[in-house]
Amino acid sequence: MLSREEELLLENEETKDCMKIIVALAKVFNAEKLVKISSAHISGVSYDNIGDEGLEWLKSIKGKVVVPTTLNPAGMDLERWKEMGIGEEFYKKQMEIIEVFKNLGVQITLTCTPYYIQKPKFGEHLAWAESSAVVYANSVFGARTNRESGISALASAITGRTPYYGLHIKENRAPTVVVKAKGDLSLVGYKAGLELPGEIPYFIFERKPSMDELKLLSASIAASGNVAMFHAEGITPECKDFEKPEEVVEIDGKIEKGCEAELVAIGCPHCSKEELEEILKLIAGRKVKKELWIFTSRKVAEESKEVVEKLEKLGAKVFRDTCMVVSPATEKFNCVMVNSGKALEYLPKKRKLEVSFGDLKACVENAVR
Ligand code: F3S
Repeated sequence: MLSREEELLLENEETKDCMKIIVALAKVFNAEKLVKISSAHISGVSYDNIGDEGLEWLKSIKGKVVVPTTLNPAGMDLERWKEMGIGEEFYKKQMEIIEVFKNLGVQITLTCTPYYIQKPKFGEHLAWAESSAVVYANSVFGARTNRESGISALASAITGRTPYYGLHIKENRAPTVVVKAKGDLSLVGYKAGLELPGEIPYFIFERKPSMDELKLLSASIAASGNVAMFHAEGITPECKDFEKPEEVVEIDGKIEKGCEAELVAIGCPHCSKEELEEILKLIAGRKVKKELWIFTSRKVAEESKEVVEKLEKLGAKVFRDTCMVVSPATEKFNCVMVNSGKALEYLPKKRKLEVSFGDLKACVENAVR
Protein backbone atom coordinates (compact mmCIF):
# COMPACT_ATOMS: atom_id res chain seq x y z
CA MET A 1 0.00 0.00 0.00
CA LEU A 2 2.77 2.43 0.86
CA SER A 3 5.17 3.89 -1.70
CA ARG A 4 8.90 3.81 -0.97
CA GLU A 5 8.77 7.51 -0.09
CA GLU A 6 5.97 6.80 2.39
CA GLU A 7 7.86 3.91 3.92
CA LEU A 8 10.72 6.30 4.54
CA LEU A 9 8.31 8.62 6.38
CA LEU A 10 7.63 5.69 8.71
CA GLU A 11 11.34 5.31 9.38
CA ASN A 12 12.22 8.98 9.78
CA GLU A 13 12.54 10.01 13.46
CA GLU A 14 10.68 13.29 12.86
CA THR A 15 7.75 11.93 10.87
CA LYS A 16 7.26 8.37 12.10
CA ASP A 17 4.73 9.10 14.87
CA CYS A 18 2.48 11.13 12.59
CA MET A 19 2.88 8.61 9.77
CA LYS A 20 1.79 5.83 12.14
CA ILE A 21 -1.44 7.76 12.79
CA ILE A 22 -2.10 8.14 9.06
CA VAL A 23 -1.39 4.45 8.36
CA ALA A 24 -3.64 3.36 11.27
CA LEU A 25 -6.48 5.53 9.92
CA ALA A 26 -5.98 4.12 6.44
CA LYS A 27 -6.42 0.61 7.91
CA VAL A 28 -9.55 1.59 9.86
CA PHE A 29 -11.19 3.07 6.77
CA ASN A 30 -9.91 0.38 4.38
CA ALA A 31 -8.09 2.94 2.27
CA GLU A 32 -6.17 1.27 -0.55
CA LYS A 33 -3.52 4.01 -0.59
CA LEU A 34 -2.52 7.42 0.72
CA VAL A 35 -2.87 10.59 -1.29
CA LYS A 36 -0.77 13.78 -1.24
CA ILE A 37 -2.54 16.85 0.13
CA SER A 38 -2.28 20.51 -0.92
CA SER A 39 -3.11 21.98 2.48
CA ALA A 40 -4.14 21.15 6.02
CA HIS A 41 -6.34 22.98 8.50
CA ILE A 42 -6.06 22.13 12.18
CA SER A 43 -8.76 22.41 14.84
CA GLY A 44 -8.44 21.85 18.58
CA VAL A 45 -6.60 25.08 19.35
CA SER A 46 -8.53 26.60 22.24
CA TYR A 47 -7.03 25.75 25.64
CA ASP A 48 -10.60 25.38 26.78
CA ASN A 49 -11.03 22.49 24.31
CA ILE A 50 -7.75 20.64 24.57
CA GLY A 51 -6.59 21.37 28.13
CA ASP A 52 -3.20 20.37 29.54
CA GLU A 53 -3.33 16.86 28.06
CA GLY A 54 -3.80 18.24 24.56
CA LEU A 55 -0.96 20.68 25.08
CA GLU A 56 1.36 17.89 26.26
CA TRP A 57 0.48 15.79 23.20
CA LEU A 58 1.17 18.72 20.88
CA LYS A 59 4.56 19.21 22.51
CA SER A 60 5.43 15.60 21.71
CA ILE A 61 5.05 16.17 17.95
CA LYS A 62 8.33 16.49 16.10
CA GLY A 63 9.16 17.82 12.67
CA LYS A 64 7.59 20.61 10.63
CA VAL A 65 4.51 20.81 8.45
CA VAL A 66 5.26 20.20 4.76
CA VAL A 67 2.14 21.81 3.25
CA PRO A 68 0.48 25.20 3.90
CA THR A 69 -1.27 24.65 7.23
CA THR A 70 -3.79 26.98 8.86
CA LEU A 71 -5.18 27.04 12.38
CA ASN A 72 -8.70 27.25 13.83
CA PRO A 73 -9.75 29.91 16.38
CA ALA A 74 -8.22 30.01 19.86
CA GLY A 75 -10.04 30.61 23.15
CA MET A 76 -9.43 34.37 23.18
CA ASP A 77 -8.53 37.44 21.17
CA LEU A 78 -4.74 37.41 21.39
CA GLU A 79 -4.64 41.15 22.10
CA ARG A 80 -7.97 41.93 23.78
CA TRP A 81 -8.27 38.88 26.05
CA LYS A 82 -8.61 40.98 29.20
CA GLU A 83 -11.53 42.88 27.71
CA MET A 84 -13.19 39.53 27.02
CA GLY A 85 -12.81 38.62 30.69
CA ILE A 86 -10.16 35.93 30.14
CA GLY A 87 -7.85 35.25 33.11
CA GLU A 88 -4.05 35.35 33.20
CA GLU A 89 -3.66 31.58 33.61
CA PHE A 90 -5.81 30.81 30.55
CA TYR A 91 -3.91 33.45 28.55
CA LYS A 92 -0.55 31.86 29.35
CA LYS A 93 -1.67 28.35 28.45
CA GLN A 94 -3.27 29.55 25.23
CA MET A 95 -0.10 31.35 24.20
CA GLU A 96 1.90 28.20 24.95
CA ILE A 97 -0.33 26.22 22.58
CA ILE A 98 0.14 28.83 19.89
CA GLU A 99 3.90 28.78 20.37
CA VAL A 100 3.95 25.01 19.83
CA PHE A 101 2.02 25.36 16.58
CA LYS A 102 4.33 28.17 15.46
CA ASN A 103 7.37 25.96 16.03
CA LEU A 104 5.77 23.24 13.90
CA GLY A 105 5.55 25.73 11.03
CA VAL A 106 1.77 26.21 11.23
CA GLN A 107 0.41 29.61 10.13
CA ILE A 108 -1.19 31.28 13.15
CA THR A 109 -4.35 32.23 11.26
CA LEU A 110 -6.77 31.44 14.13
CA THR A 111 -9.84 31.31 11.94
CA CYS A 112 -12.44 28.79 10.83
CA THR A 113 -12.51 30.43 7.38
CA PRO A 114 -9.13 29.31 5.99
CA TYR A 115 -10.54 29.76 2.46
CA TYR A 116 -10.28 33.55 2.97
CA ILE A 117 -6.54 33.02 3.41
CA GLN A 118 -6.02 30.59 0.56
CA LYS A 119 -8.78 29.36 -1.71
CA PRO A 120 -8.68 25.61 -2.35
CA LYS A 121 -8.80 24.60 -6.01
CA PHE A 122 -11.18 22.19 -7.71
CA GLY A 123 -10.15 18.55 -7.27
CA GLU A 124 -7.38 19.27 -4.77
CA HIS A 125 -7.00 16.82 -1.89
CA LEU A 126 -6.97 18.46 1.54
CA ALA A 127 -6.86 17.33 5.15
CA TRP A 128 -9.07 19.82 6.92
CA ALA A 129 -10.52 19.63 10.38
CA GLU A 130 -13.22 22.22 11.27
CA SER A 131 -16.44 20.79 9.93
CA SER A 132 -17.85 24.07 8.54
CA ALA A 133 -14.76 24.62 6.40
CA VAL A 134 -14.81 20.97 5.26
CA VAL A 135 -18.37 21.29 3.95
CA TYR A 136 -17.59 24.63 2.30
CA ALA A 137 -14.40 23.31 0.64
CA ASN A 138 -16.15 20.21 -0.74
CA SER A 139 -19.39 21.88 -1.76
CA VAL A 140 -18.40 25.33 -2.99
CA PHE A 141 -14.87 24.80 -4.34
CA GLY A 142 -15.09 21.14 -5.29
CA ALA A 143 -11.94 20.37 -3.32
CA ARG A 144 -11.79 16.97 -1.58
CA THR A 145 -11.54 16.45 2.13
CA ASN A 146 -13.01 14.21 4.76
CA ARG A 147 -13.92 15.58 8.18
CA GLU A 148 -10.57 15.29 9.91
CA SER A 149 -9.90 15.61 13.61
CA GLY A 150 -7.32 18.09 14.89
CA ILE A 151 -4.95 15.16 15.44
CA SER A 152 -5.31 13.59 11.99
CA ALA A 153 -5.10 17.00 10.26
CA LEU A 154 -1.83 17.72 12.08
CA ALA A 155 -0.49 14.25 11.22
CA SER A 156 -1.36 14.93 7.58
CA ALA A 157 0.30 18.34 7.69
CA ILE A 158 3.56 16.75 8.95
CA THR A 159 3.51 13.85 6.45
CA GLY A 160 1.79 15.59 3.53
CA ARG A 161 -0.54 12.58 3.17
CA THR A 162 -4.07 11.53 3.98
CA PRO A 163 -5.79 8.14 3.52
CA TYR A 164 -7.62 7.87 0.18
CA TYR A 165 -11.22 7.05 1.15
CA GLY A 166 -14.59 8.76 1.63
CA LEU A 167 -14.93 12.11 -0.10
CA HIS A 168 -11.50 11.83 -1.75
CA ILE A 169 -13.13 9.36 -4.14
CA LYS A 170 -15.44 10.79 -6.80
CA GLU A 171 -18.21 8.13 -6.55
CA ASN A 172 -18.63 8.81 -2.85
CA ARG A 173 -19.52 12.42 -3.57
CA ALA A 174 -22.87 11.68 -5.25
CA PRO A 175 -25.94 13.41 -3.78
CA THR A 176 -28.34 11.15 -1.87
CA VAL A 177 -31.46 13.31 -1.41
CA VAL A 178 -32.92 16.45 -3.01
CA VAL A 179 -33.75 19.24 -0.58
CA LYS A 180 -35.95 22.13 -1.68
CA ALA A 181 -34.88 24.96 0.62
CA LYS A 182 -36.88 28.00 1.68
CA GLY A 183 -36.14 30.80 4.12
CA ASP A 184 -33.03 31.42 6.22
CA LEU A 185 -30.28 29.10 4.98
CA SER A 186 -28.50 28.82 8.30
CA LEU A 187 -31.70 27.37 9.78
CA VAL A 188 -32.28 25.26 6.67
CA GLY A 189 -28.85 23.71 7.28
CA TYR A 190 -29.60 23.20 10.97
CA LYS A 191 -32.91 21.46 10.22
CA ALA A 192 -31.50 19.48 7.28
CA GLY A 193 -28.72 18.17 9.51
CA LEU A 194 -31.22 17.01 12.12
CA GLU A 195 -33.56 15.41 9.58
CA LEU A 196 -30.97 13.95 7.20
CA PRO A 197 -27.82 13.18 9.23
CA GLY A 198 -24.88 11.88 7.24
CA GLU A 199 -26.57 12.41 3.85
CA ILE A 200 -25.23 14.39 0.88
CA PRO A 201 -28.14 16.72 0.10
CA TYR A 202 -28.72 18.26 -3.33
CA PHE A 203 -30.08 21.72 -2.52
CA ILE A 204 -32.44 23.60 -4.76
CA PHE A 205 -32.86 27.19 -3.57
CA GLU A 206 -35.58 29.75 -4.21
CA ARG A 207 -32.92 32.23 -5.36
CA LYS A 208 -29.15 32.16 -5.82
CA PRO A 209 -27.61 32.23 -2.33
CA SER A 210 -24.68 34.50 -1.46
CA MET A 211 -21.32 32.99 -0.54
CA ASP A 212 -21.96 34.00 3.07
CA GLU A 213 -25.28 32.17 3.11
CA LEU A 214 -23.53 29.06 1.77
CA LYS A 215 -20.94 29.44 4.51
CA LEU A 216 -23.63 29.57 7.21
CA LEU A 217 -25.43 26.62 5.63
CA SER A 218 -22.16 24.62 5.58
CA ALA A 219 -21.55 25.32 9.26
CA SER A 220 -25.03 24.49 10.51
CA ILE A 221 -25.53 21.29 8.51
CA ALA A 222 -22.13 20.03 9.65
CA ALA A 223 -22.94 20.83 13.28
CA SER A 224 -26.39 19.31 13.56
CA GLY A 225 -26.05 16.44 11.10
CA ASN A 226 -22.46 15.30 10.75
CA VAL A 227 -22.70 16.18 7.05
CA ALA A 228 -19.43 16.71 5.13
CA MET A 229 -20.72 17.81 1.74
CA PHE A 230 -23.76 19.01 -0.17
CA HIS A 231 -24.51 19.91 -3.74
CA ALA A 232 -25.93 23.37 -4.41
CA GLU A 233 -27.68 23.48 -7.76
CA GLY A 234 -25.81 25.75 -10.15
CA ILE A 235 -22.94 26.31 -7.69
CA THR A 236 -21.21 23.07 -6.71
CA PRO A 237 -18.75 22.37 -9.56
CA GLU A 238 -19.68 18.66 -9.64
CA CYS A 239 -23.45 18.95 -9.32
CA LYS A 240 -24.02 18.00 -12.97
CA ASP A 241 -21.74 14.96 -12.81
CA PHE A 242 -24.27 12.84 -10.91
CA GLU A 243 -27.89 11.81 -11.33
CA LYS A 244 -30.32 13.76 -9.22
CA PRO A 245 -31.68 11.55 -6.40
CA GLU A 246 -35.35 10.59 -6.53
CA GLU A 247 -36.21 11.34 -2.93
CA VAL A 248 -37.24 14.96 -2.43
CA VAL A 249 -37.83 16.74 0.89
CA GLU A 250 -38.75 20.35 1.60
CA ILE A 251 -37.11 22.28 4.41
CA ASP A 252 -38.25 25.68 5.57
CA GLY A 253 -35.75 27.77 7.51
CA LYS A 254 -38.31 29.81 9.39
CA ILE A 255 -36.99 32.26 11.92
CA GLU A 256 -37.93 31.24 15.44
CA LYS A 257 -37.89 33.35 18.57
CA GLY A 258 -36.02 32.56 21.74
CA CYS A 259 -34.94 34.05 25.06
CA GLU A 260 -34.26 37.72 25.84
CA ALA A 261 -30.61 38.10 24.83
CA GLU A 262 -27.99 40.04 26.82
CA LEU A 263 -25.37 39.44 24.13
CA VAL A 264 -25.73 39.46 20.36
CA ALA A 265 -22.93 37.38 18.82
CA ILE A 266 -22.26 37.37 15.08
CA GLY A 267 -19.48 35.62 13.20
CA CYS A 268 -19.97 31.85 13.30
CA PRO A 269 -18.24 31.05 10.98
CA HIS A 270 -15.96 34.10 11.12
CA CYS A 271 -17.33 37.15 9.30
CA SER A 272 -16.25 37.97 5.77
CA LYS A 273 -15.43 41.49 4.59
CA GLU A 274 -18.90 41.65 3.04
CA GLU A 275 -20.63 40.65 6.28
CA LEU A 276 -18.76 43.32 8.26
CA GLU A 277 -19.87 45.91 5.70
CA GLU A 278 -23.43 44.62 5.88
CA ILE A 279 -23.50 44.87 9.67
CA LEU A 280 -22.30 48.46 9.48
CA LYS A 281 -24.98 49.24 6.91
CA LEU A 282 -27.68 47.63 9.06
CA ILE A 283 -26.62 49.61 12.14
CA ALA A 284 -27.08 52.70 9.98
CA GLY A 285 -25.28 55.11 12.29
CA ARG A 286 -27.30 54.16 15.41
CA LYS A 287 -25.58 53.51 18.75
CA VAL A 288 -25.20 49.88 19.80
CA LYS A 289 -27.07 49.58 23.13
CA LYS A 290 -26.27 46.04 24.24
CA GLU A 291 -23.23 43.83 23.99
CA LEU A 292 -22.65 43.17 20.29
CA TRP A 293 -19.68 40.87 19.72
CA ILE A 294 -18.56 40.28 16.16
CA PHE A 295 -16.00 37.58 15.42
CA THR A 296 -13.67 37.55 12.46
CA SER A 297 -10.12 36.64 11.53
CA ARG A 298 -7.21 39.00 12.08
CA LYS A 299 -6.63 38.98 8.30
CA VAL A 300 -10.18 40.02 7.39
CA ALA A 301 -10.19 42.63 10.19
CA GLU A 302 -7.00 44.13 8.79
CA GLU A 303 -8.41 44.20 5.27
CA SER A 304 -11.57 45.89 6.60
CA LYS A 305 -9.81 48.33 8.92
CA GLU A 306 -12.07 51.31 8.28
CA VAL A 307 -15.28 49.31 8.65
CA VAL A 308 -14.01 47.74 11.88
CA GLU A 309 -13.13 51.17 13.30
CA LYS A 310 -16.59 52.48 12.48
CA LEU A 311 -18.26 49.43 14.05
CA GLU A 312 -16.22 49.87 17.22
CA LYS A 313 -17.03 53.59 17.38
CA LEU A 314 -20.72 52.75 17.32
CA GLY A 315 -20.26 50.41 20.28
CA ALA A 316 -19.75 46.95 18.72
CA LYS A 317 -16.77 44.84 19.75
CA VAL A 318 -14.95 43.19 16.86
CA PHE A 319 -12.89 40.33 18.27
CA ARG A 320 -10.24 38.46 16.30
CA ASP A 321 -8.70 34.98 16.70
CA THR A 322 -11.61 33.42 18.61
CA CYS A 323 -15.37 32.86 18.63
CA MET A 324 -18.45 32.66 20.86
CA VAL A 325 -18.24 28.86 21.06
CA VAL A 326 -14.55 28.08 21.57
CA SER A 327 -13.98 30.92 24.04
CA PRO A 328 -15.25 30.58 27.63
CA ALA A 329 -15.83 34.37 27.58
CA THR A 330 -19.51 34.04 26.63
CA GLU A 331 -20.31 31.99 29.75
CA LYS A 332 -20.97 35.09 31.83
CA PHE A 333 -24.20 35.68 29.88
CA ASN A 334 -27.46 33.76 30.23
CA CYS A 335 -28.97 34.23 26.77
CA VAL A 336 -27.20 34.94 23.48
CA MET A 337 -28.75 35.88 20.16
CA VAL A 338 -27.08 34.46 17.05
CA ASN A 339 -27.64 34.21 13.31
CA SER A 340 -25.77 30.90 13.10
CA GLY A 341 -27.27 27.42 13.14
CA LYS A 342 -23.92 26.07 14.33
CA ALA A 343 -23.88 28.39 17.34
CA LEU A 344 -27.52 27.45 17.96
CA GLU A 345 -26.40 23.82 18.18
CA TYR A 346 -23.22 24.28 20.21
CA LEU A 347 -23.77 27.19 22.63
CA PRO A 348 -26.29 25.30 24.78
CA LYS A 349 -24.14 22.14 24.79
CA LYS A 350 -20.73 23.67 25.21
CA ARG A 351 -21.44 26.87 27.15
CA LYS A 352 -24.77 25.97 28.80
CA LEU A 353 -26.36 29.12 27.35
CA GLU A 354 -29.86 29.77 26.17
CA VAL A 355 -29.89 30.83 22.56
CA SER A 356 -32.19 33.00 20.53
CA PHE A 357 -32.03 32.89 16.73
CA GLY A 358 -32.55 35.61 14.14
CA ASP A 359 -31.09 36.55 10.76
CA LEU A 360 -28.35 39.17 10.52
CA LYS A 361 -30.85 42.03 10.34
CA ALA A 362 -32.79 40.82 13.39
CA CYS A 363 -29.54 40.41 15.35
CA VAL A 364 -28.43 43.95 14.56
CA GLU A 365 -31.87 45.38 15.38
CA ASN A 366 -31.78 43.64 18.74
CA ALA A 367 -28.37 45.17 19.50
CA VAL A 368 -29.41 48.76 18.73
CA ARG A 369 -32.84 48.56 20.37
FE1 F3S B 1 -16.02 29.02 13.63
FE2 F3S B 1 -16.39 29.01 16.18
FE3 F3S B 1 -18.43 28.81 14.59
S1 F3S B 1 -14.79 28.01 15.12
S2 F3S B 1 -17.67 27.83 12.76
S3 F3S B 1 -17.07 30.57 14.76
S4 F3S B 1 -18.10 27.62 16.41
